[in-house]
Amino acid sequence: MSNEIARQLYSQEFKRNPYPILHELLEQGPIVRSKFPFLGNVWMVSSHAAVNEMLKDRKRFVRDPASLGKGQRGYFPFWMPRSLRVMASGMILRDEPDHRRLRILVEQAFARRSLEQMQPRIEEMADELIQEMREKHRRTGQSVDLMAEYAQRFPIAVIAELLGLPEADRSRFGNWAEKFAIEPGLIGFLKLVPSLGKIEKYLRGQIQLCRDAPRPGLLTELVQAESDGQRLTEDELVAMAVLLLFAGFLTTTHLIGNGMLELFRHRDQQERLLGDDSLMESAINEILRYTSPVQFTKPMRAAEAMNYYGAELEKGDVLMAVLAAANVDPTVFVNPDRFDITRKPNPHIAFGAGIHVCLGMKLAKLEARVSFQKLWSELKNLELAITPEDVQWSKQKGVRRPQALPIQFG
Ligand code: HEM
Repeated sequence: MSNEIARQLYSQEFKRNPYPILHELLEQGPIVRSKFPFLGNVWMVSSHAAVNEMLKDRKRFVRDPASLGKGQRGYFPFWMPRSLRVMASGMILRDEPDHRRLRILVEQAFARRSLEQMQPRIEEMADELIQEMREKHRRTGQSVDLMAEYAQRFPIAVIAELLGLPEADRSRFGNWAEKFAIEPGLIGFLKLVPSLGKIEKYLRGQIQLCRDAPRPGLLTELVQAESDGQRLTEDELVAMAVLLLFAGFLTTTHLIGNGMLELFRHRDQQERLLGDDSLMESAINEILRYTSPVQFTKPMRAAEAMNYYGAELEKGDVLMAVLAAANVDPTVFVNPDRFDITRKPNPHIAFGAGIHVCLGMKLAKLEARVSFQKLWSELKNLELAITPEDVQWSKQKGVRRPQALPIQFG
């Protein structure tokens, strides 16, 4: 039965309406064994309490298989392509103390720029894209795809600017990210290697350019941290740049795309939100809870044999936190399948928890706020050009976002 659930979690049916399948999973218990493509046997951890506890417990659960003890191999064995092994040095796949060392460096660089400072430029970038959509609409007289023209381009623009990457390169990141969806099986997994190789080569080139001629942006600051006191190796620097680029991109695309779709679907709430800006914070939290832009965390490993919420775990067992299920756990959320922009309290776990909790959550919320405010106010009589039921969903595995959202406006 649980194998069936793993299959269902990847299905189109799930993307159209995830809630019955998530409740079926929760009803099977807080932790169930399943088989996933490529990963093999995985314990799916689904209840809000079990997910939170696992992500926060550094003693009993680890990220990096190498942390399990002597003789354990790391994420990718030596015979795997080098680009994969480089990515495994990113902090999202590391445990303490390496994770802390890396996270402090990037947190310091983030802290040097406040969101208030960044907001005007972020608004300007949103305005530029909205203007382009308006012109396209005027030129063609056709509906415009909000996903392609805005929800994907805006977060790329923001993260590229934050890193200090050239504007002309932005469209390449989108093409690379599309390849990042892991298809089932080893073959599918290996298919992403060429894209990874290209990203790695590109970023090593940019790192060299930052060394030769420092320019504004996080990448130069991290390059300086690398040369400063050897606090960061070049591979770690490349992995950090890849992580920031991709962690900050598609996640926010999902938040904006899924958020707009839910607001189109729930006209009453859309009207309330547009009439009362003080609801924006709770509306964004509800969109995060209801749509879980990141559906699962990276896998964890049991650091010891234990009984966890009734499951007998062996040391080394692989576990995955199903954030989408924890976010509709009925023991925590009243009427969890109801979209309610006034929901309070809303202890969603869309940004993860514990040491790997999202580093960019405030930036992501700011991007969502700017987008929702501007799209509705700038594009008069904004409407979805198809019925919500006809929306096609992305075929990428483990990713729930509309493939396209054709819109029209006056
Ligand atoms: C709606 C938008 C976003 C969502 C839902 C989201 C969600 C998450 C989640 C669930 C994790 C933990 C993953 C895990 O434990 O496996 C995470 C980690 C992370 N996120 Fe985000 N994220 C978003 C936007 C961003 C943005 C805009 C940035 C960058 C600037 C960012 C940077 C990161 C980084 C660097 C990590 C790794 C942190 C670590 O390992 O210590 N995220 N995010």
